[in-house]
Amino acid sequence: MKMDKNENGDVDLSAILVIFGGTGDLTHRKLMPALYNLVLDQLLPDNFAIVSVGRRDKSETEYKQDIYDSINKFSRNKIDETTWSKLQDMIHYYQFDFTNMDGFSELKEYLEVLDGKVQSGGNRVFYLAVAPEYFETIVQGLHTSDMAIKSGAWSRLIIEKPFGKDLKTARKLNNKLIEVFPENSIYRIDHYLGKEMIQNIMVLRFCNSIFESIWNNKFIDNIQISLTEKMGVGTRGGYYESSGAMRDMIQNHIIQILTLVAMEPPTNLKTDSIRTEKLKVLEAIEDITPEFLKNNVVFGQYGTGVIDGNPVVGYREELNVPKDSATETFVAMKLHVNNFRWAGIPFYIRTGKRLGKSSAEIVVQFKDLPNILYFKDQDMQEPNLLVLRIQPNVGVFFQFNTKDFNSHHDIVPTKMDTSYFSPTQGNTPEAYERLIYDILRGDATLFSRWDEVEAAWTVADHLIGYREQKKSQFPNYDSGSMGPIRAFELLAKDGRKWWHV
Ligand code: BG6
Repeated sequence: MKMDKNENGDVDLSAILVIFGGTGDLTHRKLMPALYNLVLDQLLPDNFAIVSVGRRDKSETEYKQDIYDSINKFSRNKIDETTWSKLQDMIHYYQFDFTNMDGFSELKEYLEVLDGKVQSGGNRVFYLAVAPEYFETIVQGLHTSDMAIKSGAWSRLIIEKPFGKDLKTARKLNNKLIEVFPENSIYRIDHYLGKEMIQNIMVLRFCNSIFESIWNNKFIDNIQISLTEKMGVGTRGGYYESSGAMRDMIQNHIIQILTLVAMEPPTNLKTDSIRTEKLKVLEAIEDITPEFLKNNVVFGQYGTGVIDGNPVVGYREELNVPKDSATETFVAMKLHVNNFRWAGIPFYIRTGKRLGKSSAEIVVQFKDLPNILYFKDQDMQEPNLLVLRIQPNVGVFFQFNTKDFNSHHDIVPTKMDTSYFSPTQGNTPEAYERLIYDILRGDATLFSRWDEVEAAWTVADHLIGYREQKKSQFPNYDSGSMGPIRAFELLAKDGRKWWHV
């Protein structure tokens, strides 16, 4: 990956980070805590400033106090006053309603003056931490005020999902963005790619002959990817109504994980080499026709129930959710990647809210050996399982069979677990620390290229189209359960089950 180097050959991180949506939830919960930890780890350069753009009428002191409180609440490290003092010197609050196009030239002047003080070389990161309907307006404002591209300096545009609501709208949006920013300056964030174990998938596969040599349809029986949450939609009912689990989790996080698990080894570790291999996986996903989906997908919506001993309301009773909502809060499905490595192997994917367990895991189940020597009188042989635990536990679990030392002939599964509990592996600043740092370094490996997003939408569109035509009897699972019964039947009819190890 090409990175911008300074005259000493070091990657030059000097920049002004402009956050549109400076008073929003994302900035408070993720971005500022992440920036705080980057300062703590001494990863931000001296020539660096943060300009938070917000509509609210606030003094800079009030704004900084709000940020201090959020860091206190959400940062993985406790506030250390010296670090905070460094960060707060970098932060500037700029009140501006970005729907007012005239204001962009004033912002430009403001940034130029600040640049003179900070000596950040004209480099800019524009982070759109706002609702997606404002992406176009802001990018247009950056363009007309001549802020987007500057000779002799770099500019990067950062956007969060949802990137469009289907392939058509995503294309339209992308066309607007690339009129202004070149593809290699657009960083599309999928925060799952910032998680430790997601980055570890390639290392585990391509640095261990024991795994890579059996990572195919000759040895693997099936692969399960489960991202389950105890949380409901909370206050995000309005957003969730237009997204559902399909757009919220499958189109992005799950598909990204699937591509990393199934991709071929890239020829090198350059950003584009990796992205190209990931794209090939999406292109190999078998045609998702309505006939196929009829038997291979299950949608669900949570009803009332109990989570951690507390009664909770059903999805239709959540804030800003209509009483007859047909939005899915759960999806389970089987799909195939039709290439030489994976032909015939099912990938089972599952995600849902208000389930009995919050966890993100990839389970690789290996094929059984013939029951000739052992297991003859046992009901079932326990398969070899390799579990990549993403959260809340982080690490690898492996199950293999050994003789039981306490009996004459029993075979027992031995469970080797190198994972450790990490309460901070949720949707937390950690992932953002890594991602923001990579943006400054100009390393786009952990971000999605447009053709990947396009291919992911092509898959998701089939599912969404099918989902919209289908009448579902919702709610169909209790909060606190592990989803609709049909999600279990989906595997049972193949003689398999979801693993919870
Ligand atoms: C977000 C979704 O992208 O990911 C949320 O919008 C979801 O609905 C979250 O809760 C899950 O992320 P994490 O990191 O907590 O697993």
